[in-house]
Amino acid sequence: MRQAGRYLPDYRRVREQVSFLELCRDVDRAVEVSLQPIDAIGSEAVIFFSDIFTPIPGMGVDVDFRPGPVVAAPIRSAAQVERLRVPDPRESVPFVFEILRALRGELAAREIPLLGFAGAPFTLASYLVEGAGSRHFGTWKRMLWREPATARALLDRLTDLTVGYLGAQIEAGAQAVQIFDTWAGMLSPADYREWVLPTHREIAAKLDRSAPLILYVNDGAHVLEETAKSGADVISLDWRVDLADAARRVGSRVSLQGNLDPCALAADAATIAQKVRELARDAAPARGWIANLGHGCLPDTPVEGVRAFTDAVRGLAP
Ligand code: CP3
Repeated sequence: MRQAGRYLPDYRRVREQVSFLELCRDVDRAVEVSLQPIDAIGSEAVIFFSDIFTPIPGMGVDVDFRPGPVVAAPIRSAAQVERLRVPDPRESVPFVFEILRALRGELAAREIPLLGFAGAPFTLASYLVEGAGSRHFGTWKRMLWREPATARALLDRLTDLTVGYLGAQIEAGAQAVQIFDTWAGMLSPADYREWVLPTHREIAAKLDRSAPLILYVNDGAHVLEETAKSGADVISLDWRVDLADAARRVGSRVSLQGNLDPCALAADAATIAQKVRELARDAAPARGWIANLGHGCLPDTPVEGVRAFTDAVRGLAP
């Protein structure tokens, strides 16, 4: 859940020297930044440093970061969708796989697992159509109703991209992969079933499942049963979901991940430890549980708070 980043002083030192885009493409620096959380916060898995928008320029789309993704010419027409390429990621973003291979080499001896990730089709489309982050993503949501065939064609291309991209990550050494659907939670349950669930199911069906698949749907309490039908092994929950309730509803079919509010890391260590014990108690009925946050660390998250979280997780009785 965005464990490397601006809340870490060591990350900010590296970022002073290069832009975010350069950092994603600079193999040595990206490896360095990916490894920082192991010592800085005591994390027990590493997610390679990149962004969900990394494979998008390879489709022929001009992207910048300010600080979130900004698209020079938003995708609004059937002709633009038609022109989007679905490249072989090994050719369009070779540095991603160099980063993963280098990390696997570094981590093998330490027995720390390596995670790959990708943006989910719906969330990638949200930015591609809107052009940037937005409160309501009105342009994208209107496209679902006014030009459903264009919206479907866009999601189909992005689903193909994601299947190829995650497959190549697994091939390069990722031992589990996570898909981030940050904006899918803005749909009604019926619209989610129509527009989002099929994309997740297709990805789950086509990937090499020797690497577990983790699915994060932000703000997705109302579609929890649907996320559990995606075929993913683990459902990563945001903090708005009651973990005990989620464990009862879907915990026999999937494992759960999450879901402390990252803002709770501003509390003192004893409070954070208490929250971690409550999460462990609530998750107990589920098939499995990965202790984690409910969303990424914000830039002003205190490092001591994140450290208190991982210390408390290690302190849980086996
Ligand atoms: O955890 C890690 O270390 C992996 C790296 C990672 C980043 N982004 C690095 C990043 C991951 C897994 C992401 C995922 C991502 N990116 C998502 C899905 C998860 C979520 O947070 O909901 C989304 C929607 C994006 C798109 C994106 N990238 C946004 C909206 C922003 C700006 C928001 C912000 O936090 O300011 C980014 C930029 C970004 N991606 C940063 C980092 C460390 C900050 C860039 C900087 O250093 O200037």
